[in-house]
Amino acid sequence: MGREILNTQSAINYSIEELTEAYNQTRQDYIVPMPMTPARLQAYVDAYDVDLKSSCVVLDEEDSDLIIGLGMLGRRHNRSWITRVGVLPYTRKLGAGGEIITHLIETSKRSNIQFTWLEVIYGNDPAQRLFMRNHFKQTRELMVLRRPPMTTITDRKLLAMPAIVEECDKEDAISEFAESSEIPNWLNQAETLRNLDDLLVKRIVFQSGWEGRLFYELTTLQIKRVIVQVINGPAEQVTAASLAWLHQEHLMPDAVCENFEVNDPRIKGYLRAGYFESFRRVEMVRRNH
Ligand SMILES: CC(C)(COP(=O)(O)OP(=O)(O)OC[C@H]1O[C@@H](n2cnc3c(N)ncnc32)[C@H](O)[C@@H]1OP(=O)(O)O)[C@@H](O)C(=O)NCCC(=O)NCCS
Repeated sequence: MGREILNTQSAINYSIEELTEAYNQTRQDYIVPMPMTPARLQAYVDAYDVDLKSSCVVLDEEDSDLIIGLGMLGRRHNRSWITRVGVLPYTRKLGAGGEIITHLIETSKRSNIQFTWLEVIYGNDPAQRLFMRNHFKQTRELMVLRRPPMTTITDRKLLAMPAIVEECDKEDAISEFAESSEIPNWLNQAETLRNLDDLLVKRIVFQSGWEGRLFYELTTLQIKRVIVQVINGPAEQVTAASLAWLHQEHLMPDAVCENFEVNDPRIKGYLRAGYFESFRRVEMVRRNH
């Protein structure tokens, strides 16, 4: 498969089923297994503003029905986000990965997008080299946290019942979240929260006057995207106490929180409430103009 020019096509020409199949094939040997179904990939596209027209696939030069690599592009204001990049194991080191990244950067530049973001799992050296070669610079180290089902909270100080727990107006809460000084990773930005139809938002006030806001999605088996916003009080304690309330309410499901900056003071609160570090990612950003 020696090649000079690769056949790169817009991902919009492919069904979500074809893209899912291609994605899973490129990730057969991935460090952290994350297989997708078409429904999950569609939910991913919707949550993270992935633009399939700007996303691409690379086809085998001899068999144009075979997708050998793909990469997706999310778009928000002056930012884009590269995600789901992968090349079939036996067609690597021939330039397809480089072609995908070039395509996604050039598409961003043509739309006057100033910054392109991405994340790479810590220790994924081939991918990190690919991104550094394309002038991405590391910005933050991020942590993915999980909490096993049925974890009981042993820290008695966390079990004080809050004085008030109330449902918040989703739009108002997200607007306030967007105005806070924190710049979250792409997955946790206000735009993502706005895209989630099933997002729950709770305001939690404790006797001491501490106040936290919880954003999360609840399914039978999992509580996803658990984000604590600290409104008043010490970050670690407000986070831990808010999570203690959440997990006493919902003991069964496991929980996941992705891409908090490793030095974020809330992480200690997650750990106190029974979460553990699952793995780390490196966030990288490229200035395009
Ligand atoms: C990361 C990944 C996408 C790179 O794809 P790729 O097609 O191998 O990328 P390229 O061919 O452009 O570059 C890979 C290497 O091959 C080299 N290369 C490219 N064309 C070459 C050629 N014709 N001859 C010899 N070497 C070549 C590149 O210089 C590069 O070398 P380096 O790793 O030492 O820096 C691929 O390894 C992959 O799919 N990994 C699993 C999924 C993954 O990690 N995705 C990224 C998630 S953030």
